[in-house]
Amino acid sequence: MSIQFDKTTGLITLHTQDTTYQMWVDEQKVLHHLYYGPSVGDCDLRPLEYYTDCGFSPQPAGMSRDRTYSLDNISQEYTGAGLGDFRVPAIQLQQADGSHLADFRFERAEFVPGKYKLEGLPASFGEEEECETLELVLGDAHSGLCLVLLYGVFEKANVIARAARLENKGEKPIVLHKAASACLDLPFGQWELLHFHGRHCMERQLERTPLSHSVQTLRSARGASSHHHNPFAVLASPDTTEQTGECLGAMLVYSGNFKMEFEVSQMGSTRLVAGISDDFFAWTLEPGQSFTTPEVLFSYTSEGLEQLSAQYHQFLQNHVVRSSWKNKPRPVLINNWEATYFDFTGEKIYQIARQAKELGVEMMVLDDGWFGQRSNDLTGLGDWFVNEEKLGCSLSSLITRIQSLGMKFGLWVEPEMVSPGSQLGQEHPQWVLSAPGRNPVTSRSQLVLDLGNPEVVDYLDRVLSQLLEENDIAYIKWDMNRNMTDVYSHALPKERQGEAYHRYMLGVYELLERLTTRFPHVLFEGCAGGGGRFDAGMLHYFPQIWCSDDTDAIHRLKIQHGTSFGYPPISMGSHVSASPNHQTGRSTPFATRGVVAMAGAFGYELDLQLLTQEEKEQVRSQIATYKRLQPLVLEGRYHRLTNAMEDSCFTAWQFTMPDKSLAAVSVVCKDPGANPMPIHIKLRGLAADKRYRESLNGNVYTGAALCHAGLTLPIMAGDYPALQILVEEVQED
Ligand code: GLA
Repeated sequence: MSIQFDKTTGLITLHTQDTTYQMWVDEQKVLHHLYYGPSVGDCDLRPLEYYTDCGFSPQPAGMSRDRTYSLDNISQEYTGAGLGDFRVPAIQLQQADGSHLADFRFERAEFVPGKYKLEGLPASFGEEEECETLELVLGDAHSGLCLVLLYGVFEKANVIARAARLENKGEKPIVLHKAASACLDLPFGQWELLHFHGRHCMERQLERTPLSHSVQTLRSARGASSHHHNPFAVLASPDTTEQTGECLGAMLVYSGNFKMEFEVSQMGSTRLVAGISDDFFAWTLEPGQSFTTPEVLFSYTSEGLEQLSAQYHQFLQNHVVRSSWKNKPRPVLINNWEATYFDFTGEKIYQIARQAKELGVEMMVLDDGWFGQRSNDLTGLGDWFVNEEKLGCSLSSLITRIQSLGMKFGLWVEPEMVSPGSQLGQEHPQWVLSAPGRNPVTSRSQLVLDLGNPEVVDYLDRVLSQLLEENDIAYIKWDMNRNMTDVYSHALPKERQGEAYHRYMLGVYELLERLTTRFPHVLFEGCAGGGGRFDAGMLHYFPQIWCSDDTDAIHRLKIQHGTSFGYPPISMGSHVSASPNHQTGRSTPFATRGVVAMAGAFGYELDLQLLTQEEKEQVRSQIATYKRLQPLVLEGRYHRLTNAMEDSCFTAWQFTMPDKSLAAVSVVCKDPGANPMPIHIKLRGLAADKRYRESLNGNVYTGAALCHAGLTLPIMAGDYPALQILVEEVQED
C-alpha cells in the first residue's frame, strides 16, 4: 500500500519508491502537512512540529487560551480563508452572506484503486498497479462548502499528483475568486527557485534565485500558459547541482492562466500555492454544483536536477501523453514556413517535397496560407476552406502528388482564431471574445474565438473533422498565435464573465479530446507562436510541441536547455533552418544546426533546393544519424553536461539508453577563444565496468574512465563548430 491512514493518530502517509509525504489530522480536525522528502518509512513526524506563542498570530474560535495554536504557523495541506492564516491563501471566495470566510475541517478519507480522473480536464493516468488515489474530504460546516483533496500516488514514478474539488453542499450560491490546485507548506529548509521565463522567440530561460521573505509569483494572465512564464518550477537546496542535492518540482497540467506563488513566511517556513490564476477569476457555485481544479504534479529527489528531470520525462511520457505516437519514432519532416512564408503554390510545395524526399525526408508539412483569403497574416483565419486558386489545385490532389513521392502529408491550422474580415467573423460576431460596445484589441491582426461557447466547439469539431476525413492527413500543427484580451463571452450572463478564461480552456480541451479520439493515428504537434503554450496540459493531447519560433541554433541551446528541465526531449519540435537565420541574422554551419535540432523531434524548415551539393549530402547523413539517435531521444536519459545559461565557451549534452549500451554526446562551441585549449568533457550515466568505443577516435574506455577521466576533444575553431560523439558498448567475445 502506498497510502496509509492511522485512524488513532490521524497520521496519513503516502509512500513512493524514494519519497515519503506525511499529513496529520489534529484534534481540531485541521489537516497539517508534516513532511515531503526522501523516504523515512512509517516514522511519526509530529514531534518535528513546534508550537509557540507568536504575537499577532490569532487563534481559531474556542481556542483563545492556547496562544501557541494558530493557523498562521501550522503547515497545512490547503488553506481556508480569512481565519488568521495571513500567508498566501489557496482559496478566496464570497459566501452568500457576503463574508469571505471558509473554515475547512477534516471529515473523512477515501481510498480508490487506480488514478482519479478530472472531469473535462487533462490529467495523468495509470493502471491500478501503478497508482492509488486518496481523497480527503473537508468541510466548512457553516456554509456547506466541501473541499475534496485528491492525491494520485505513483509509487514507482516518484510522483504525487494533486488536485482539488469544491462542492457546494449548502443551500445558497458561493462565488470562488481563487481555487488553487494545491498548497504545499514546507516547514523547514532554505530553498532556491528555478523557473523558466521568456518571451516570444526566447522561451524557457532558466533563472535561479533564492526565495526571500516575500512572495515570488510566476503567472500568466494571457489566456495561455505563455512564453513569459512556464507552469513548471523547481525548489532546490542552495547546494543542489545537476547530480546531487534535494529538489522538488511542481508542474501544472494546465494551459491557460495560471499562478504559482512561493512565500517564505514570517516564521521561515515556505509555502507553494499553484493553480489557475485568480486574475479575472470568479466562478459561481450554485447549490449542488462543483468546481474541479487542474492537476499539479509534484516530484522530489535528493539526487539532483538531472534525476528530477528524468522523473518528469518518464512520467510525462508514460502517464500524461496519450497519443499513439508517444513511444514511436517520429517521421523526419520538412515544413515550408521559413522556406516560403505565404508565397507558395501547390507546385512550389511539391517541388520542395520532391527535393526533400530525394534526400531522405519523410513528411511534407504545409504551413500557414493554404486556406480562405490567406495571402498574408491580415486575413483568412476562420475560413478553413482550401484556397484552390492560390494552390492551383485541390488539397487532395496536392496530397496525392506528395504521397506518390512516398511521403506523408501534414497541415497547419489555427482553429482558435478568426480574422476580423473572414467569412466566419462576419457570420458569427457573437462567437468572438469581445465586450459589448467596445472594439476588441487585435494582435497579429486577429481575434480570439470563444471556445467557452459549446456552439463554437461543435463548429470547429465539424470543420476540422471534415478536413481530416476528406484528406489523408498524417500530421496536424495546431497553432495559437495571440494572447487574449477583451475576454467577454457572449455565451455567458454578465455576472458570470469571471468564468470565461477557464471555460475557454475547457472548450479547447473538449475539442482536442474529440479530435484526438476520433483521429488517433494523426500526429498532432502543438504550437503557439513557437512555445507559447508548452505545458503538460497540451502534452496530454499533443506528443510534441514546436519549441520556439526562434530556429537560431545558438539561441536554441538555451531554449532547449530550459525546456528539458520539465519536458521530455522528444516533445520539443526542433528544425534545421536557413543561414543566416531569419530571426537573428546569425550564420552557423549546417552541421551545427543539425546537431542542435537532433536533440528533439527533428525536421527541416527551409527550401532544400537552395542548398549546395555538399549541404545536400549533409542532409542525407543527418537523417541517417537521427534515425540512429532517435531511440535515445525517445527513451534515453538526458544529461545537461553544461549550463547553457552560463557564458561559457561551449554547451554540451548527452543521451544515454536505459540499458547503458549506447550514449550520444553533442557539443557546440560558442566561442573558440584565441590560443584555444581543447574542450574536455566528462560523460555521465555509463556503466562503470562496461567497455565503450567512442566514435571520435575509435578508442575504447571503461564507463568509469569516460565519466571520471572524461574525453579531450579536438580543438574546435571558427564560427560555432559542433561535434557529435557516439559511445557504444563493446561486446566482449
Ligand atoms: C506561428 C508558428 C510558426 C508558423 C506561423 C504561421 O508563428 O510558430 O511556426 O506556423 O505561425 O503563421
